[in-house]
Parts: sequence; C-alpha cells; structure tokens
Amino acid sequence: MDQFTMHTHTDGELRREDIGQTVTLTGWVWRRRDHGGLIFVDLRDRAGLTQLTFDPEHSGGTAFHAAETIRPEWPIKVTGLVRERPEDTANPKLPTGEVEVLVSEIEVLNTSHTPPFQIEDGIDTAEDTRLRYRYLDIRRPELMHNLRLRNDFTFALREALNGAEFMEVETPILFKSTPEGARDFIVPSRTQPGNFYALPQSPQLLKELLMVGGVERYYQVAKCFRDEDLRADRQPEFTQVDVEMSFVDQDDVMGEMEHVLGAAFKAVGVDLPCPLRRMPYWDAMDTYGSDKPDTRYGMLLHDVTDLFKESKFKVFSSAANKAGSCVKCINAKGAGEWPRAQIDKLEDVAKLFGAKGLAWIAFRPDGSVNSPIVKFFSDAEMDALKSECEVEPGDLVMFAAGPRKSSDEILGGMRTHMANALDVEREGHDFLWVVDFPMFKQDEEGGRIGAEHHPFTQPVVEDLDRIEDDPLSVGSYTYDFVMDGFEAGGGGMRVHNADLQMRILHRLGFDDERAKAQFGFLLEALSFGAPPMGGFALGLDRVCMLLTGSDSIRDVMAFPKTSSGSDLMSAAPSEVSMQQLKDVSLRVL
Ligand code: AMO
Ligand code: AMP
Repeated sequence: MDQFTMHTHTDGELRREDIGQTVTLTGWVWRRRDHGGLIFVDLRDRAGLTQLTFDPEHSGGTAFHAAETIRPEWPIKVTGLVRERPEDTANPKLPTGEVEVLVSEIEVLNTSHTPPFQIEDGIDTAEDTRLRYRYLDIRRPELMHNLRLRNDFTFALREALNGAEFMEVETPILFKSTPEGARDFIVPSRTQPGNFYALPQSPQLLKELLMVGGVERYYQVAKCFRDEDLRADRQPEFTQVDVEMSFVDQDDVMGEMEHVLGAAFKAVGVDLPCPLRRMPYWDAMDTYGSDKPDTRYGMLLHDVTDLFKESKFKVFSSAANKAGSCVKCINAKGAGEWPRAQIDKLEDVAKLFGAKGLAWIAFRPDGSVNSPIVKFFSDAEMDALKSECEVEPGDLVMFAAGPRKSSDEILGGMRTHMANALDVEREGHDFLWVVDFPMFKQDEEGGRIGAEHHPFTQPVVEDLDRIEDDPLSVGSYTYDFVMDGFEAGGGGMRVHNADLQMRILHRLGFDDERAKAQFGFLLEALSFGAPPMGGFALGLDRVCMLLTGSDSIRDVMAFPKTSSGSDLMSAAPSEVSMQQLKDVSLRVL
C-alpha cells in the first residue's frame, strides 16, 4: 500500500471500491494496444498490473498523443480517474481486472531499448540471455514471485528463530579454510605477501567458537562459498540458515529445528508434518539407494543376492558369493514397453552413477520377455525374481551387481532417473530426517578415508575405540533434512573435546603439524571448557527452489552464476590489472 509523492497506489491495488478516485501510478509499459482511437496500456510494477486507457477526447488529447509514442518497458507516471471497465472487457483473472484508469496526465520517466526478450512468464528464451540481462529477467512476475517467496520464508524463519531466543551473529567471510568437502576459494592478502584467506565453506568452525564463547543459541543467514562442480542444485556461493546450540542433545536440536522450520513453512502455506519421520541412513541406502530419498513413490530396491548364488550368469553369481557385494534390482513400471534402443541407452545413464554395466529384463505387454541375460536364468530363478519384484507385463527390471554401497547408489540414481523419465506422480511435498550417518567414508575401494559430514562431527560414543582400526563402522550423531528427494539441510552434534578432535583429524590423514596449522585455534578453543553442542544448516536456495517448483536454484537467486561459474551480466570472473596482481604479490602462470 504505497503512498508517495510519485504515486498514490501500486499497480496491483485498485479495486471496484476505488472507482471515482483520482490516482497517480508509476510503472513500466507492459503491453500497448491501439484500438481504433483508444489506446490501452497495461502498466506493471512489482505488485501487479493496471489497465490504463488513453482517450483522444479526454483532457484535450495531450495524454493520448504522448501515449502514441510510448513503447514497452518505458517507465511512466500517470494520473487519472479510476472507472469501471465496460462489463465485457472486465478481466476476472486479474485482481485489478474490474477497473481501469482514464489517464489525463502522463510523464515519461525514461525510455528503453527494445528488450532482448519478452518480459513475460513462461518464455523459452535461452537462460544465458536471461542471465546476461538479469535485471530484465527479474521484472518478469515469475522471478519476482520467487524472490518474494524466498523473502517471506526467510523472514518467517528469522522470526521463529528470534522468538525462540536464537541470536543472529555475523561471522567473517575473509577467514581460514572451513572444510565441508569442497575446494576453497582463496583471497590473497596484500599486507602479508604469499598469505591467503579462504572463504568459509560454511560458518561451521566459527559457530562452534561462538558456542565456546557462551552464545548458546546462534543463527545466521550466512553466505557459504564452495569451489565445486556446479549442478542445478549447486552454486559456488549459496545461502544457509545456519544454527548452533549448546548444552543440548540431538533430540533437542532436531525438535527445535522442527519447531522453527514448521513455522517458516507454514508462513508459505506448507504443512510440515511434525514430528518428522526419521529414517536411518543405512535403511535409506538399502531401500531407496539414496541418503536423500524421495518417498512419494515406490520403485524400491530389491535385494536378490540369495536368488542368484548358483546362477549361470557369472556377473550375478560372483557378486552374490563375494563378501560385501550383492545383486539388487529395481522394477520400473511402464518402461517394459520402451523400444530396445531406448532401453539400451539406460546403460550410459547407469555409468554416470558408477555402473560397469546395466543388466535388464523387459517384460513386454504381450507377455514376451526381452533381455540380454535371461538366457542364463533357470526357470526357478526367473520365477523367484518375478515374485520378489511383483512383475507384471510392461515392467522393466534393472540390476546392479557388485559392492553393496555402489550398487545401492547406482540403483538409487536409476530410480530417480526412471521416475523423471516415466513422469511418475509426486504429489505435495515430502519431508523426513535421514539420521545416523556413518562418521567416515572411503573414496573408492581401499581409497582415502574422508568425513561423511565434516571432521567436527561427534562419533557415536560406543564406537570410539574403532576410529583407528575400523573407521567405516563408526557411527555419528547426524541428521539430514530431506525434502522431495533433495538434501535440503544437514547437521549434527559436535566434538567438544580437543583430544578426540585431534584423533579424528589424525584418522583423516592430518599429522600434528598440519592439524595445528589449520585447526589449531579450534583445538585450543575446545580445551577451554567447550560445552556439548550441535546444530543444523538449512540450504535456503534448495528449499526455495522446491517451494517454487523451480528446476534450478538459479531461479530463486537474484544473480546466480552459470555452470562454469560465470556471471554473464558483469562478465566475472575477469582479468585484473598487472598492478593489482603486483599489489598482492601474485603472477599469473
Ligand atoms: P552441509 O555441507 O550439508 O552442512 O550444507 C548444508 C546445506 O547447504 C546446502 N548446500 C548447497 N546449496 C547450494 N549450493 C551448494 N553448493 C551447496 N552445498 C550445500 C544443502 C545442504 O544440506 N556446517 C554444516 C552444517 C552443520 O553441521 O550444522 C554444513 O555446511 O542444502
Ligand atoms: P557381459 O556378460 O559382461 O557382457 O554382461 C551382460 C549384461 O550384464 C550386460 O547388459 C551388462 O551391461 C550387464 N552387466 C555387466 N556388469 C554388470 C554389473 N556389475 N551389474 C549389473 N549388470 C552388469
């Protein structure tokens, strides 16, 4: 409800009750229609649009003559009388659709080049062009709506957090490496040649230090920086709603998060079914092949290892008899009708998820079976498989045989791929916690040990004595917030004992010297009476992507980067001058 010198109302505001008033509006010329003597203009601002009418008979025709010159996307200011639209021209779909403004005065505030694309929803302009002219893209109601929803959700989160006595504390951007599994962005120091800041991948270490500092309930809408390969749900800089609490246990943190998230989702019309369902990590992997399962549809993983122990198909029988390996499958209903060439392409998809091959059986609608591998199957194996997977004509069964974790991941990837390819129905939103992640993971078979979440996570107390010798069996107090098959947030309890933190860093391959150089300040802080603590970080961009039904987090960010990390509008990253390089003692190779 704007009331300014320049305008009396927004363009989304006038209603039947306003008929008879003289109003002043500002905005951009959207559509202009010349109707034999009358000119109609849709005037648009952030709030909506209002129809303007220019009549040569009115006000000596001066406004009409000006209206003949205006073009789309020119900003104008108009004054006129609100009047009822003739009944057959009313637009019930538009909130202002019952009225129009008969313009008596117009002021052209600026002109505009012809925009490179239509300022309309649902355009199919290449994204690069939209990003190059992002300020025009933001004029489109769709983008404006996304930014508004993001604001409403973030505001409600802040309100709920403040209401629950969390305090927002800003933490530095120029800092030291805070590893979350990606590469750091680094910034050279001018005053200390050869030294660099690292941009934080998250405020993880800083929030732990705030807990040592006694803040007890912290939050921050925090920018995070990660130099990693970009995807639809990943940007090099993104926003977390970051939270940390002390003198709490895991249930306290999860309960508090459900409370504040519930309030924020409610503010945007989404019901969070609290207490949220909890699914242990290993169950999620076993059943859905993913640590972020979308549980709105089936296509679950079947373990058929035991069926194929004696099989003549060596790929299956050797996996079935090897410790740590398995044979699993999914049944994609409907894909059994696909032509052979289309099914063959699925092997390439499976390879993206790490598969060596993709064995499959298509059960054709006419009752026949098409498959490169069934010739090796006995009748008993085929019958057992059909009954395990409840096979019907039209089904496509796909297999992964090999080490358990990678087989699960391959089929988890195929499950999502097939759900999209078959357009499987996914109604409403899906929320759950995935809990009890392992503490460590191994890159490849026999490869380096890394942290599954991050190195500051509290391992399960009963598992502590296995950290050195059997790290992969060590559990942790962790929880991911999963929404619609995406990891929308994650958190856990933290190590608050300096010796244990050092042991974990050792296990991750840090020697004393490197651990102290990188994390000495943390280890020191932990030794000054650090309290038990835990927290959570919500991926704000991802949640807003899902809430708006967008395909990419770029659609809920004002100025996102392309998949190669460029800002097409400003052409960043770009070269700097020799002098700038000299100032920071750098030379480009
Ligand atoms: P994590 O690394 O899981 O945890 O990050 C938390 C959430 O941030 C989102 N996210 C991203 N969003 C967009 N682009 C990215 N590149 C990107 N990377 C992550 C995800 C993810 O769930 N410090 C811990 C949290 C904690 O333990 O409290 C952390 O950063 O939605
Ligand atoms: P091969 O006998 O190696 O030609 O494989 C026969 C079929 O099994 C092909 O369709 C392969 O793609 C598939 N296949 C090979 N290795 C695996 C595996 N580890 N898991 C599932 N299918 C596989």
